[in-house]
Amino acid sequence: MSHDARVFLREFLRDPARVAAVAPSGRRLSQVLAGAVPRRGVALELGPGTGAVTDHIRHREPRRHLAVEVNPRLARLVARQWPDVEVVCADAAELGPVLDAWGAARVDAVVSSLPWALMPEAQQRTIMTAVQAALTDDGCFTTYAYVHALWMPPARRLPRLLRTAFTHVAVSPVVWANVPPAVVYRARAPRRDVRAD
Ligand SMILES: C[S@@+](CC[C@H](N)C(=O)[O-])C[C@H]1O[C@@H](n2cnc3c(N)ncnc32)[C@H](O)[C@@H]1O
Repeated sequence: MSHDARVFLREFLRDPARVAAVAPSGRRLSQVLAGAVPRRGVALELGPGTGAVTDHIRHREPRRHLAVEVNPRLARLVARQWPDVEVVCADAAELGPVLDAWGAARVDAVVSSLPWALMPEAQQRTIMTAVQAALTDDGCFTTYAYVHALWMPPARRLPRLLRTAFTHVAVSPVVWANVPPAVVYRARAPRRDVRAD
C-alpha cells in the first residue's frame, strides 16, 4: 500500500463521516474531475484529501489553485507536497469568507470531492450557494457521487440542488475503474437569479 493510501485509510478510520471513502480517488475519476479546469484558469478544489485530484489539477497549469480541506493533517500534507497550491484548513461551508480573504472573488472551476451523501440538507445548500456565487459565468463545477450510495436521500438531493443552482447539468457514465465506482456531475452556467439555500 502506498504512503498516501495508508494516510487516507488512517484518516478515514478517524473521521469516516467526512473522509467518506477508504481509498483516494483513482486516476480515471481524478482526470474527469480535473477536466473542468481550463488551462491557466483559476481553480478551487474542495476536499483535496491526500491530493489524488490535486495532482491532476496541477497538470492543467492553473494560474491559481486554491484548496479548502477541513482535516488539518490532510491540509498540511497537501500544502507540503504542492507548495504552489494555496491551502486553507476550513469547512467548505465557510467558502464565502475564505474566498474573500484570498481576494479571489470568482474562479473558473470548482472541483469538489466533498461527501454530499453524508451531509445534512442545510450544509449542502450553503455550500452549493457559495460554489454558485464563486464561479464565473462560463465556469464549470465538477463533483462526484458513489454509485452504491445514489439511492440515499442526501445523494438524491444533489442533482436536484445542482439543477436549482445551474442551467446545465450533465452526468457522466459510471467510472467503473474507480473503487468504489462513481458518476461525475458537471454543472455550468450558474443561475444568478436563484440561490440554492
Ligand atoms: C472522499 S474524500 C476525497 C479526497 C480526495 N479528493 C480524493 O478524491 O481522493 C473527501 C475529502 O473531503 C474532505 N471534507 C469533507 N467534508 C469537508 C468540508 N465540509 N469542508 C472541506 N473539506 C471536507 C475530507 O476531509 C476528505 O479529505
